[in-house]
Amino acid sequence: MKFSYYWIWHLLLLLINVVSSRDWLIDKITDVTTLRITPLGTLLLSNTLISREFLLDPDFATIDFRDLHTTNSSLLRCVKPEAIITLDGIKYNIGGIMPNTQCAYFNRTEFWRTKTLDTTAFHFSTYEVGIPKAPFKYTPKRSAPADIQWPPKGIHLSIYFKAPYYAPLAHKYVTVVVNYEMYDGIPLIAKWLDIIDISGRGDIDLSINSVELLAVNQPWSPFGHSWLYIEDDQPPGHGTNVLWTYDVEVNTIPGSFPPLVNCTYQTDHEIVVPLVTQLTSFRVHELVVGSSDEERRALSKHRLIRLLAPHTQENPIFFHMINASSSAVRAVIDQMAEVGFEMLIYSFGSGFDMESDDEKYIEQITSDIAYAHSKGIEVGGYDLIALTRQVRPDWMAIDPSTGKPRDSVCFASGWYDYLLNRTLTFMDRTGLIMVETDGPYGGYSCASTTHAHHRNNDDSVYRQNILQANYFKILRERTVYINQPDYYFYQGGSKTGMGYNEEQYSLPRWMDISVSRQGMFDDTYQRIPTVGWMFVPLTVYHGGGAAAQFEPLVAHQIEYEWALAQYLGAGVAACYRGFRLYDTNETKALVTKWVNFYKKYRSILIRDIIHIRRADMQSIDSYMHINPYSNDIKGLIMVFNPTSEPVDTNLPVPLYYTGLSDIAQVSEQEDSWVFYTLARDYHIDLPIVLPPLGITWFLIR
Ligand SMILES: *[C@@H]1O[C@H](CO)[C@@H](O)[C@H](O)[C@H]1NC(C)=O
Ligand SMILES: *[C@@H]1O[C@H](CO)[C@@H](O)[C@H](O)[C@H]1NC(C)=O
Ligand SMILES: *[C@@H]1O[C@H](CO)[C@@H](O)[C@H](O)[C@H]1NC(C)=O
Ligand SMILES: *[C@@H]1O[C@H](CO)[C@@H](O)[C@H](O)[C@H]1NC(C)=O
Ligand SMILES: *[C@@H]1O[C@H](CO)[C@@H](O)[C@H](O)[C@H]1NC(C)=O
Ligand SMILES: *[C@@H]1O[C@H](CO)[C@@H](O)[C@H](O)[C@H]1NC(C)=O
Repeated sequence: MKFSYYWIWHLLLLLINVVSSRDWLIDKITDVTTLRITPLGTLLLSNTLISREFLLDPDFATIDFRDLHTTNSSLLRCVKPEAIITLDGIKYNIGGIMPNTQCAYFNRTEFWRTKTLDTTAFHFSTYEVGIPKAPFKYTPKRSAPADIQWPPKGIHLSIYFKAPYYAPLAHKYVTVVVNYEMYDGIPLIAKWLDIIDISGRGDIDLSINSVELLAVNQPWSPFGHSWLYIEDDQPPGHGTNVLWTYDVEVNTIPGSFPPLVNCTYQTDHEIVVPLVTQLTSFRVHELVVGSSDEERRALSKHRLIRLLAPHTQENPIFFHMINASSSAVRAVIDQMAEVGFEMLIYSFGSGFDMESDDEKYIEQITSDIAYAHSKGIEVGGYDLIALTRQVRPDWMAIDPSTGKPRDSVCFASGWYDYLLNRTLTFMDRTGLIMVETDGPYGGYSCASTTHAHHRNNDDSVYRQNILQANYFKILRERTVYINQPDYYFYQGGSKTGMGYNEEQYSLPRWMDISVSRQGMFDDTYQRIPTVGWMFVPLTVYHGGGAAAQFEPLVAHQIEYEWALAQYLGAGVAACYRGFRLYDTNETKALVTKWVNFYKKYRSILIRDIIHIRRADMQSIDSYMHINPYSNDIKGLIMVFNPTSEPVDTNLPVPLYYTGLSDIAQVSEQEDSWVFYTLARDYHIDLPIVLPPLGITWFLIR
């Protein structure tokens, strides 16, 4: 059985070309998203890769969700309400129809014959069609790809719902808007809710139970092959959930496989939020991958984040400065300018204080930043803004289980206003244009009833999340670069830790380099290269002493070059953390060499990674960047020999995602172009000759 499934998956991958004779991951899809009324009177939203079909009568409901691209099949198993909310303790479905008689699979004959209005639900009143709205302003900067489209192109559909006749009068002033966006050229839908009380009285208690309820067929769920990737736009663990279960309504039909996804808020207790004028839910992203192939799944998700968080593709080369004294900072800025580094970050432990109102300190920082700007270098700094941060007692979060202050600030207290004011004031005065926040709000609740921005425990998680997001949005609109150890990317965050273990940078240098290259290889399935940072502990980071640190650099040139090559070659910014970038002309030359390489090939180095061979330290290892849309360089391969032996071998390189199909031209380090014929499965065998500890790279067009 296992064997045949394996082949079915691989056949599906090959079938992509058969089903639609084009692949959105390598061909530019020029079809635009359309919305039309079908002969059945339904509404069909389609971008030719996927489609979603809505019933309008007797009520609004999703009645189909199709993959037109990879499997050419329907995902949908059953009709569910569009969403579920609770007003003052009364639960309302939003649209939908009475439950189908059976939901093991979609029986359209039966559906059209029996569909019946659910009289207790909020009812469809009207819809509006527009274009996608940007959740924040963004103009590409810092060498982000030129082809960024913001907001993305596509269709925004707003569907309006009104309370049922039996609802209490107060609820009749409530309108629920279900928002859908479908984007051009990607099998992706976003969905979210606006709940509006036009009475403006603010005395309704609202809970959002489900932003999306989708009954799908088994292969699309994690119980099958996870062909449908669903995420919400919030950082994980902050009170929102994408819950996959088996549908209890259907479990009464023994022997069927009824996966249901429920996109909801926290599960420990319901959020209850006072509805004052308008509340907006989190967004759900539904990406129809249609494949179990690991690389294909990764590339699809990467397209999603590039589309909806385009600023994550900015990738300045930064230095983490541990000494904030004016003379030390200026000395390192001189070095950075010499070798082409782009951003200085006052590191943790440097004594940097973004919240300061000490005039003398602000004057010093302003003048040092002006010096950096005169050399074309941007400057940012570190601040501990939440979690373990201690502030005024009345701004601390109250633990609901003990009634005592937590070890953390509440982000929905006066702290938010204070911090935002300090941040903006400092930036306005000094020219600081980057922040590294430590401890974005981490998803804990607060039982205080006296805080400025939440009522009690029931709305504290919801409110803190919104304010943390708002803090980042305001900075994003000011073009600030934001390092945050969390996942606030759809709210404006630029970068997070790549996924490393904090201890690995305390290992002896060669172990650190090797383990880090392995980890980065794995993490770039989850993340695009530019969204994660790594570390190069020029001075001791957590521990490990002289064996771990790269200082003195002249004594560890080979390791230093490996670090530069493996991170810059991956398009991954690392925190080069210390007090200088080079200590001799030789180490300066190494940094210059790899920074120049990065800048020359930046447009391909910041693109996605195809995983060729994970480092096992037994032979060579390799990864490749691809850009199938490029008219010139479509691939860049990095190859490392971490062994103490010379290597002379053939490396099979899979070229499918470069978009090349017959002939590849390959050049080793800008040497002459060699022609290769692609095999039936799009690979070429690339001869590799490397000395012990050798590194090389190849261009493909
Ligand atoms: C996809 O399936 C539909 C029916 O479900 C069929 O009408 C259509 O021709 C198929 N498309 C392709 C490209 O096979
Ligand atoms: C679909 O429903 C119709 C009408 O109830 C029924 O006759 C038919 O057998 C059903 N088809 C399947 C495949 O269950
Ligand atoms: C969705 O999840 C919420 C939170 O756990 C739960 O209260 C609700 O019953 C779930 N809805 C369905 C239909 O499973
Ligand atoms: C920071 O740099 C200054 C100037 O180079 C130096 O005098 C001072 O000792 C340094 N501080 C530390 C902690 O290294
Ligand atoms: C910060 O607060 C001060 C004092 O209330 C106010 O004058 C100033 O305008 C605020 N600045 C910003 C950027 O919000
Ligand atoms: C380093 O390079 C500079 C400029 O090329 C040169 O003047 C200097 O003598 C060199 N230093 C050493 C120690 O070689």
